[in-house]
Amino acid sequence: MDARTLPLPPVPAEQAALELETVLLELLMRKSSETHGHSARVGELAREWVEHMHSRSKWLGVSASEIAQSARYHDVGKVAVQNEILNKAGPLDSAEREQMNAHARIGYELFRNVSSLESVALGILHHHERWDGGGYPAGLKGQEIPFVARVIGIIDAFDAMTSNRCYQRARSPESAIEEIRLSGGTQFCPDLVQDFAEFLNARNT
Ligand SMILES: [Fe+2]
Repeated sequence: MDARTLPLPPVPAEQAALELETVLLELLMRKSSETHGHSARVGELAREWVEHMHSRSKWLGVSASEIAQSARYHDVGKVAVQNEILNKAGPLDSAEREQMNAHARIGYELFRNVSSLESVALGILHHHERWDGGGYPAGLKGQEIPFVARVIGIIDAFDAMTSNRCYQRARSPESAIEEIRLSGGTQFCPDLVQDFAEFLNARNT
């Protein structure tokens, strides 16, 4: 039998899942290195923050690895957004905005059929919801927004403000957290805003 036709040994499910994740991140990297870098930072900060929560016996029921995983993939749906829209420096018109906003649902659709990743998928779907109900895609409000998505929403905004983008220069972490504090109770969960500020403070001391 030709070696090329020999059946490959079965790959354990966990290894297959990890390999699939690598493929998805590679795809995102090829689409947008800026989004890929942002996603990696948001994932890392999510893990650190949730571990910090647990170290103070807060929100012990949530999984740091699941939230970090969801944070790494929160923008993976942008692989389906046209490059001209994704990289546009100026404001988006309403049709462009609609396509850009679809990334949350598209990312969710990529993950929703993996039964063990339900909370990862929900974090992706709802990371642009707002505490006051004015976000998308579902307009969820307050505690209706899954915890994982509330965490990602805060870190997403923080990283966006503190990174250089094609349309803005990076702001200082102090200025970013001040703005996030001002949006506690309107855009963000107020308890988590307070905790995030404490986490950043502890991280920098
Ligand atoms: Fe997003």
